[in-house]
Amino acid sequence: MSTTENRAEFGSTLGFILSAAGSAVGLGNIWKFPGKAYACGGGAFLIIYLIIVAVVGTSVMMAEFTIGRKTHKNAVGAIRELNAKWSWVGGLGILTGFIILCYYCQVGGWAMYYIVGYITDVQTVWADPMAYFLGMLGANGFPLAALIWGLVFLFLTAFIISHGTAGIEKMSTILMPILFILLIGLMIRACTLPGADEGLGYMLHVDFSTINTTAILTALGQAFFSLSLGMGVMITYASYLSSDDNLVSNTAIVCTLDTLVALFAGFMIIPAVFATGIAPGMGGGFAFATLAGVFMAIPGGQFVGMLFYFLLFFAAITSSTSILEGTVSFLVEEKGMERKKTLVMVSIVLYIVGVLYTLSQAYMNIPGYWISINGIEVTIFGNMLEYLTDRLLLPLGAFLTTFFVGWIWGTNNSIDEATGYGRNKFALAKPYAFIVKYIDPIAIGAIIIAGMVFGMSIS
Ligand code: PHE
Repeated sequence: MSTTENRAEFGSTLGFILSAAGSAVGLGNIWKFPGKAYACGGGAFLIIYLIIVAVVGTSVMMAEFTIGRKTHKNAVGAIRELNAKWSWVGGLGILTGFIILCYYCQVGGWAMYYIVGYITDVQTVWADPMAYFLGMLGANGFPLAALIWGLVFLFLTAFIISHGTAGIEKMSTILMPILFILLIGLMIRACTLPGADEGLGYMLHVDFSTINTTAILTALGQAFFSLSLGMGVMITYASYLSSDDNLVSNTAIVCTLDTLVALFAGFMIIPAVFATGIAPGMGGGFAFATLAGVFMAIPGGQFVGMLFYFLLFFAAITSSTSILEGTVSFLVEEKGMERKKTLVMVSIVLYIVGVLYTLSQAYMNIPGYWISINGIEVTIFGNMLEYLTDRLLLPLGAFLTTFFVGWIWGTNNSIDEATGYGRNKFALAKPYAFIVKYIDPIAIGAIIIAGMVFGMSIS
């Protein structure tokens, strides 16, 4: 795949699925999802999340896929071609991606720090997993290690973007299935740890009294984040698809894979939280501190831990590259900037904000560091960045995308594209049209507004 004049196409459907799933599966599934499920009530959150993915997630993904394949353009160019007045929606997505990437690369760096930790000094990691995690983030002073690894991760992301993504797409064919199988194995081990049944109970017990506006908005934002929706990444990926590819089955496969990975991670980490008593709060050490208890309980745990963090790193970099590609190709294709220069400039800004993110994690316990907005305590560059993207910008991007497809471009055009103009079946075409036109904009819009009006608690 490349972004030359004669736009290339994915060589195979598998290539596309791996790239789209590679973008979707990442830190969102393994690092974020378990923490949100834990904070928002376990079982009830899971059900809300699954409903949102099944109804809203799949329809927004289909909407993005059809826009991309119809136009064969990047997110901004694609929407402009369909209706020039709406191209700013693509621009908003680019901005959202940029903000996400600032902290995404830092957390990707954490995974690298843990690869090295498991290879060189596993005894220290295991002696006090929480202290090790907080130590990385600067509990004992300046978080130098986290900042250096964040830089390395960002550098690798930029390097891959400047040298082409073909290599990591090939590696995905092997590493993604390994990640999938490893997660299943670790999930089984975590669930059979002494004390894990309480965690399992927490994830399976459905108590809807824990569900409030915050939980619903969290589930919605998490679904968009996890599926890489609401910021044009899937528009761009689908723009490389040929008209023979079946968008209906691709949507189903990518959404299912992504959700399974999140569920595996949730059912691995939450039981481990209960079994080990390590429940990291803010700063989200869920995929880091908590899992030490699982690796310690496995023969060859040091190797398995190292493998896990390597695969987490890989999953993260297939996501970070998908975002950076969007930002850079926008500046190059739409603003006529030079590619290498753009990459360097964008990376520098990304890193500066990323440093502020990590410093926020390091110093968030300092009294007075918080500010309170609408009843929520936030650190400007810490959880504020996440709230801004997950609770506002991604839902807004998805809202605008579905509104655009439902009311401006038209659901009939989208369905024609989804079926390849009659080549493949789309049994749910009618419900899709109804959801995109009415359910998505109303539900997403209402949740965004409710979140603003009623305020939100921290989670
Ligand atoms: N979906 C990715 C993850 O779960 C993150 C991402 C968000 C990638 C938005 C692209 C766009 O980690």
